[in-house]
Amino acid sequence: MSNDDPLARLRAARGNDELAVLEGFHAVKHALRFGAELLEVLAVDPVELERLAAQLAPDVGAQLAARARRIGAEDLEALTAVHVPGEVVALARRPRVDVPALLTAPGPGPVVLLDSPRHLGNVGAAIRVAAAAQAEALVVTGTSDPWHPAAIRGAAGLQFALPVGRLASAAGLPRPLVALDPAGEPLRADLVPPGAVLAFGAERHGLSEEARAAAVATLALPMRDGVSSLNLAAAVAAVLYGLRLTR
Ligand SMILES: C[S@@+](CC[C@H](N)C(=O)[O-])C[C@H]1O[C@@H](n2cnc3c(N)ncnc32)[C@H](O)[C@@H]1O
Repeated sequence: MSNDDPLARLRAARGNDELAVLEGFHAVKHALRFGAELLEVLAVDPVELERLAAQLAPDVGAQLAARARRIGAEDLEALTAVHVPGEVVALARRPRVDVPALLTAPGPGPVVLLDSPRHLGNVGAAIRVAAAAQAEALVVTGTSDPWHPAAIRGAAGLQFALPVGRLASAAGLPRPLVALDPAGEPLRADLVPPGAVLAFGAERHGLSEEARAAAVATLALPMRDGVSSLNLAAAVAAVLYGLRLTR
């Protein structure tokens, strides 16, 4: 892979689990702000990018502008197949996250566990709110990659703001696991042990048997009669902020 062909580098990066493809201004901005190692920054109009960065992200604007190389609009379109805000894409190295070691060490919690989620947009939105609410980490079981470009778009690049990684199973974790389920008892901060893992189920099927069996408590966000459940990312947001604001 030649350094002189940035498009080839970005194309090849999509299948590489050591690299992350960042699509759009906010993803690139957050990545830089939270210390990402950027390997490539490509913009259709580097001058416009500099103007946007000076206006919206002066803390990282100069770094961004200095790194940007020009890319043709058609090349960007062929590379991403989605609308890319700010017409900028970047390639970064994913930080190494040792999830078993993180869970074994004592930590402040909460750690958000998404139990086999299906929609990368939900995964991204959950990462975004986990970063904002200062969760300790976010981990995912199942096949969805929390570093997929679509999840990075959904998170606006906030994968770089907290440890984000994958886990084989919700069973046998060294931290207390609290299950979030519409059929649980009403959420209260004193029912969540320090350092807890908060497990959220999949969009359609809810929590796995492993997560249910491992739970030290099963808690719910109370809902009015007739409402079955909240959207996964909305539930993560409500629980994290409910705990944060009442502790
Ligand atoms: C769309 S819901 C899954 C609905 C699924 N049909 C079920 O029976 O659980 C996705 C996840 O969001 C969380 N969730 C949604 N509404 C909730 C509520 N009212 N209380 C606690 N967790 C909730 C749960 O973790 C749930 O597994």
